[in-house]
Amino acid sequence: MYTTIQFIHSYWAYLVLLIVVLATINALAGFFSKREYSAKDFRISLFALIVTHIQLLIGLVLYFVSPLGLQNITTNGMGAVMKDSVSRLYAVEHPMVMILTVVFITIGYSKHKKKLLSSKKFKTLAIFYTIALVLMLSRIPWSQWF
Ligand code: HEM
Repeated sequence: MYTTIQFIHSYWAYLVLLIVVLATINALAGFFSKREYSAKDFRISLFALIVTHIQLLIGLVLYFVSPLGLQNITTNGMGAVMKDSVSRLYAVEHPMVMILTVVFITIGYSKHKKKLLSSKKFKTLAIFYTIALVLMLSRIPWSQWF
């Protein structure tokens, strides 16, 4: 169970990273080029929302089955986890920041849908997706992942 969830979470992360990077670049390019918002722009922003939400669900399950997640806190105590940078990353920082990432994507997506002008849609997406991307890049366990 644990290794399967860990495997899925690890490989789904490539898709999440790729789509969020593409959706952010697309939003920024759309905003700066002042072009009209199209169905393609809607699809890529929606796709970013879907893949990150799926990763959130997989991550939540993983948090409860991984020895690096909740188990680490219950076994060793919060004090010991916070003192060790790797433990802290997996048990605290990564989950919290990734949840925040998904919150930013979700707010950006729902706010942009309500805007009527193309420039406003792109601006909303660009701001929220860029913040989400920066947050995500900051707390991926790069050294363990690659
Ligand atoms: C939504 C964006 C997320 C991305 C892109 C992401 C990405 C990753 C990556 C790349 C790893 C390392 C995998 C490896 O070493 O092979 C990882 C590990 C982990 N993630 Fe996430 N994650 C996300 C969300 C979450 C959330 C929301 C949680 C929990 C609430 C979570 C919990 C964990 C845990 C516990 C591990 C360590 C698993 C282990 O090796 O035992 N992740 N994540």
